[in-house]
Amino acid sequence: MNSSPKELQVVIVTGGGHGIGRALCRRLARDGVKVVVADIEGDAAETVAAEIDGVAMQVDVGDEPAVIQLVEKVESEVGPVNMFISNAGVAYGDADSGSISAEGGLNPVADRWAISWNVNVMSQVYAARAVIPKMLQRQGGYIVNIASAAGLLSQIGDAAYSTTKHASVGFTESLAINYGDDGIKVSVVCPQAVATRLIGMEDDSDATEGGFGGNEVDGILKAEEVADIIVDQVLEGRFMILTHPQVTTYIQRKSGDYDRWIGGMRKFRRSLAK
Ligand SMILES: NC(=O)c1ccc[n+]([C@@H]2O[C@H](COP(=O)([O-])OP(=O)(O)OC[C@H]3O[C@@H](n4cnc5c(N)ncnc54)[C@H](O)[C@@H]3O)[C@@H](O)[C@H]2O)c1
Repeated sequence: MNSSPKELQVVIVTGGGHGIGRALCRRLARDGVKVVVADIEGDAAETVAAEIDGVAMQVDVGDEPAVIQLVEKVESEVGPVNMFISNAGVAYGDADSGSISAEGGLNPVADRWAISWNVNVMSQVYAARAVIPKMLQRQGGYIVNIASAAGLLSQIGDAAYSTTKHASVGFTESLAINYGDDGIKVSVVCPQAVATRLIGMEDDSDATEGGFGGNEVDGILKAEEVADIIVDQVLEGRFMILTHPQVTTYIQRKSGDYDRWIGGMRKFRRSLAK
């Protein structure tokens, strides 16, 4: 069922300080929404909020008490949260020590599996726990979780990212199944490559090639394009939002013959190693 941006008065966007999150904040503000820009980087949140006449909140989404506090603060100081967009995410890449290693290949962290699990998955559970009871009382609301095409297919070179994004898709499916009858609208977003810092590109980049994916990944989109697709499809009431059309074909190939798909991915991986 189609909705109008007018239904959305207050929207929280996590990871709103950069990349896709920032583009979502800008688009929603253009639609007349009061946007809460929530980010672990308080300065980045402040900059975006100032640009769009929004509200900045510094928060680590992997910390449940902090997420509860964020929602309580927004509800009391800004207004009832109509939509919570869990967009903040991290990717560390496989280190030379391999896909099962705790080490991150791109950035040094003590245990990339633990951090990826917390930020890419548990943050979405914490947000849902904090906001869904309030939405149920109001008989409506939206939960939008940003996962990845890596959560449907696989990200060669980042096992922790692929695994946690699959979990994000699984969790969001459960939300849609369990709360859809209660008026809670749920969407999961599964983009392929987007020109942001996450894939090693410049912040707010206009480039459509480069990054870690480079030419190996077809069709790098700009964050602003992706944000427009996401908001339009959320308002159309779509559950699964695929910003890159080719992902539909890849999913069909995977589900049509899983073993053949694994073989194809192994071949692709070998070609990347050359
Ligand atoms: N860029 C891509 O190619 C791509 C593709 C598919 C999915 N995604 C997903 O899109 C989402 C946004 O990523 P992006 O590409 O814009 O990356 P980005 O690095 O540009 O932005 C991520 C934002 O999340 C914030 N953040 C990170 N950890 C946080 C934490 N613990 N608490 C609060 N904020 C935190 C960062 O400060 C940053 O502002 C992520 O979930 C990512 O996995 C990105």
